[in-house]
Amino acid sequence: MFKNRKGILLLGGLGTRLYPTSYFINKHFLPLYDKPVFYYSLSILMLMNIKDIIVVIPEQIKNFALENLMFLNELGINLSIVTQKKPEGIAQAFLLVEEYLEESSSVLMLGDNFFYGSNLSIFLRKILENKNSSILVQKVKNINNYGEAILIKDKLIDIIEKPKKSRAGMAVLGLYFYDKFAVKNARFLNKSKRNEYEITELNKFYLKKKKLDYFNMGRGITWLDIGTPGRMLEASNFVKIIEDRTGSKIACIEEIALNNKWIKSRELEQILSKRSINEYNNYINKILLDS
Ligand code: DAU
Repeated sequence: MFKNRKGILLLGGLGTRLYPTSYFINKHFLPLYDKPVFYYSLSILMLMNIKDIIVVIPEQIKNFALENLMFLNELGINLSIVTQKKPEGIAQAFLLVEEYLEESSSVLMLGDNFFYGSNLSIFLRKILENKNSSILVQKVKNINNYGEAILIKDKLIDIIEKPKKSRAGMAVLGLYFYDKFAVKNARFLNKSKRNEYEITELNKFYLKKKKLDYFNMGRGITWLDIGTPGRMLEASNFVKIIEDRTGSKIACIEEIALNNKWIKSRELEQILSKRSINEYNNYINKILLDS
């Protein structure tokens, strides 16, 4: 049981597939319909009731992040910011966050991943109770851009990063659950051919030690990643459709903080009083009036 867990939110990388847009703005701060990309991944950690969150950002935007992300503390998040000099792979995060992670287990969330579906929080909170470290998988049509989990008779036997040919197409999703030894284990990794500390290699390390389980997300939960302009548009349309239809917002971090009882209505009212009137803030106001 991973009681004392911390979240790591990765907002680094080059975003090369989103060039030229990502040349000017880090992709995690671009809009995904009505809020920045990173709200969606951050909200997933919040839905798991994870308050201690370490955000990894590129060194170049350190001041921007310090100026603009600290408001998250007002929502009850205990935020730490760690910088990455060069994007040298997802697993490099563990080499950077050691002093913040201390002896905690962790949940690593890629800032460009998106999840939505029924009972999502219940599903994820159950994984937090798993003794071993865990990865999530879901079947996809085109596996070539992902890590592929190789399952034989439902047993996880291998993981292949960006496979050339598809097997069953079980993609490894960008949300990982690790025990408190992730930092120690990451130190055993060497850089790959593309000069990165691969998260797949860390997962394989756990797998070899029989310390890695997988959970299949099945078809009831939508998983998207926001790596290309097309994907960004698709995800934006998806959010718009759901929000217009239901009247509820996906990834409204203020709403989640309130539901988690991290902040009181009075405190949220105060935060809101300093903001301008717009559709997003009106939504929060309505939640406050209804609560
Ligand atoms: O989306 C799931 C996939 O994510 C997995 O199936 C793959 O196994 C995993 O390697 C990863 O593949 P990507 O090629 O999509 O990773 P990408 O380099 O695009 O980075 C994913 C996120 O991590 C993105 O939000 C940027 C961030 N990142 C990435 C690197 C390499 C960092 O913050 N620092 C980095 O050094």
